[in-house]
Amino acid sequence: MLLVTGGAGFIGANFVLDWLAQSDEPVVNLDKLTYAGNLETLAPLNGNPRHVFVKGDIGDAALVGELLRTHKPRAIINFAAESHVDRSIHGPEDFIQTNIVGTFHLLEAVRAYWGGLIGDAKKDFRFLHVSTDEVYGSLGGDDAAFTETHRYEPNSPYSASKAASDHLVRAYHHTYGLPVLTTNCSNNYGPYHFPEKLIPLMIVNALAGKALPVYGDGMQVRDWLYVKDHCSAIRRVLEAGRPGEVYNVGGWNEKPNIDIVHTVCSLLDEMRPRTDGISYKAQIAHVTDRPGHDRRYAIDAGKIQRELGWQPAETFDSGIRKTVDWYLRNADWVTHVQSGAYREWTDLHYGKVEGAVA
Ligand code: NAD
Ligand code: DAU
Repeated sequence: MLLVTGGAGFIGANFVLDWLAQSDEPVVNLDKLTYAGNLETLAPLNGNPRHVFVKGDIGDAALVGELLRTHKPRAIINFAAESHVDRSIHGPEDFIQTNIVGTFHLLEAVRAYWGGLIGDAKKDFRFLHVSTDEVYGSLGGDDAAFTETHRYEPNSPYSASKAASDHLVRAYHHTYGLPVLTTNCSNNYGPYHFPEKLIPLMIVNALAGKALPVYGDGMQVRDWLYVKDHCSAIRRVLEAGRPGEVYNVGGWNEKPNIDIVHTVCSLLDEMRPRTDGISYKAQIAHVTDRPGHDRRYAIDAGKIQRELGWQPAETFDSGIRKTVDWYLRNADWVTHVQSGAYREWTDLHYGKVEGAVA
């Protein structure tokens, strides 16, 4: 079986849902259920014996050790992290604790477990660390896209904490021989994206008649990848990636933020027009820029394409249309996330006891 961490968050939950739809292999899902973790996203798995949910912290080495000894996973996929750049600017400490200290404790527990394996179980074991293109820093307009050998130049507390975790993962391979894989992916979008991030925030605010806050001039460039394509890349790296290697994952789809916001508005104008007939673009408001805002990210996903034959299935046009449609059809999910109702429900259901199993 697989041990997935952070599998109640945006990408982790998409991964678990896709995995269990395509494979008989069970998943143990360890998630702390921070504000970003949402069991409602995993509701389709209620009663599924191949999904074991455990509420807990990757930094809790005793809990992780117990899970490893009990379930004997053949691989670990580490999604768990604090992931929002703006939150890291307001308060970096949680990012240091989870992304750096938490990853360290997780690696220590995994090293102890893996050290006790023998034969093929030891040889075939994998620790896959899910990371970000933000560790490479910011590009100028004419710079070549990030390759796996681009130097690390993180600029926010979030990206610095992810960079530190990447270095720890690398060190555990070089020092101890732990069979690790690292993926560095660009901006994801799609179903179950928490509405603090650009695309879901724009959809949700537009429908609520609120302002669409675009930081600065809106000409910052990101490379966007549909989340299901990120999940397929991770499955492929797990299956065929070479231990110790890093794979960049991206959508070959660079766009300035303002173009993304215009696209979202145009789709909403088509699919759920405002009653007054005015475009949602009228709600766009340029606001103060993010401190230290990286100007451009671009991923060269050539290595994973050449070596593992992976490429994205969605174009941006098809992916963003599916995404807007998903948010229109899942207003309840958004309402519950925003109201905090899902957290009340998890507290009610699990109490405050760490390690409770659903
Ligand atoms: P998210 O914030 O939506 O979800 C993170 C999940 O981790 C949540 O369910 C949360 O409860 C859980 N978590 C947080 N701290 C934990 C801890 N100490 N122990 C156990 N669980 C904990 O994040 P996401 O967008 O799904 O990102 C997942 C991973 O992918 C992160 O490592 C992130 O850095 C990376 N990544 C994200 C993107 C993106 O565009 N969202 C792109 C590239 C890489
Ligand atoms: O590049 C991968 C990274 O993408 C991941 O590692 C992070 O976990 C993920 O959060 C994301 O980081 P970004 O900072 O790029 O994503 P965000 O959605 O917060 O912002 C995207 C761009 O939109 C960025 O340039 C900031 C801008 N923005 C964002 C928000 C929330 C706005 O202009 N207005 C906003 O209100």
